[in-house]
Amino acid sequence: MDRIRIRGGRPLHGEISISGAKNASLPLMTAGLLTDERLVLSRVPVLADTQTLGLLLEQHGIAVEPVGQDGHTLSIGGPITNTEAPYDIVRKMRASILVLGPLLARTCEARVSLPGGCAIGTRPVDLHLKGLEQMGAVIALEGGYINAKAPSGLQGATIVFPMPSVGATENLLMAATLANGRTVLANAAREPEITDLCDCLVAMGAQISGIGTDRLTIDGVSSLHGAAHQVIGDRIETGTYACAAAITGGELHLQGGRMDHLGAVMRTLSEAGVEISETATGLSVKRLNGLHGVDAITEPYPGFPTDMQAQYMVLMSVAQGASMVTETIFENRFMHVPELNRMGANINVHGKSAIVRGVPYLSGAPVMATDLRASVSLVLAGLVARGETIVNRVYHLDRGFEHVERKLAACGADIERIPG
Ligand code: EPZ
Repeated sequence: MDRIRIRGGRPLHGEISISGAKNASLPLMTAGLLTDERLVLSRVPVLADTQTLGLLLEQHGIAVEPVGQDGHTLSIGGPITNTEAPYDIVRKMRASILVLGPLLARTCEARVSLPGGCAIGTRPVDLHLKGLEQMGAVIALEGGYINAKAPSGLQGATIVFPMPSVGATENLLMAATLANGRTVLANAAREPEITDLCDCLVAMGAQISGIGTDRLTIDGVSSLHGAAHQVIGDRIETGTYACAAAITGGELHLQGGRMDHLGAVMRTLSEAGVEISETATGLSVKRLNGLHGVDAITEPYPGFPTDMQAQYMVLMSVAQGASMVTETIFENRFMHVPELNRMGANINVHGKSAIVRGVPYLSGAPVMATDLRASVSLVLAGLVARGETIVNRVYHLDRGFEHVERKLAACGADIERIPG
């Protein structure tokens, strides 16, 4: 298994090009199930997760073909020939559940393996299923599978989410585009990735209003057509490299990074002593003087994203003073803490909150993490630690960060991949 070796202590300088957003690309790819015509998506990151979703779509009979040389443009289309999403693919990637709504809307039936729990929490899918039932689907859970049928097609409904869920909003939004009548999704999630999905669906002929708000109104149409759409930049990758610039005391230009997608993170980083400014083509990030402790609490968008919590905690580990980092979205998302403490951080977890007392320096160590964002936080820690850090289980990183070691090395980091 590949590992990443980092020798810390070098300030990063230069430019990093921000890739297309993984968490926008995955639902956008499943939108290809909503029409037989071609959906051409550009700026799709080449990652293990986008490749897994490509395999899943092919399993449904859909052709997923690269356009051009760089692998970032995909042409997706063709008739659905199989409505089963098998366990072997779903277990690799929970986002596979996003085929459920589109399959049901298009073919009136779907059989999708139930995703299990995962390293960061139990992550149930009840909101996806309840919403589809409200739209007339009959759902049975059998043998680890969701068997869903809607013999007379899906019907528009008013669905009030008890809490915002990114995946449930996306699944029901896609299902509603082809349902009979009007669907209202209230208390919906409003992450930029959902807005991106709405924009693509509208380009495909969907009728959606309230885009960007927590109340989406969808008037079902009889069919959608092909379209071309460019995926938005990855706000979590942008925030991660902003932390890399800040933690190493360097200065990075994040080409294609957007302030408006990262408001809460950028405000918190500024308060902690990081200077961030918008440029004509992205964001410029540098540390002013010392970093100091500032509390953060994860919330649905536009709050501080849970997917930035681990990276921010590394920054706080070497800031002056103490800070409290509170995780409200997932119940088990502090798996990086013991690893950071092994590197010399001083972090104590009390329930949903971690008290981070800044230390003067971290020390390199062999480390491993159990999820994507935790893994990249260990890379950040390695960039600032004294000595050598080996990050194991790099496959987590490969799920969500395109060429992480190449991008950082080009800006002066001493980092390399050791093939395993
Ligand atoms: C998406 O997951 C992202 N994944 C996650 O990114 C991200 O951390 C999360 O949203 C929150 O922002 C993708 O976009 C592919 P949710 P999702 O439904 O949709 C509970 C990464 O590292 N819930 O918004 O699964 C759930 O347990 C990943 O890229 C239910 O109770 O998240 C959680 O506590 C990790 N029942 C909360 O809602 C449900 O049916 C929010 O989850 C659905 C969710």
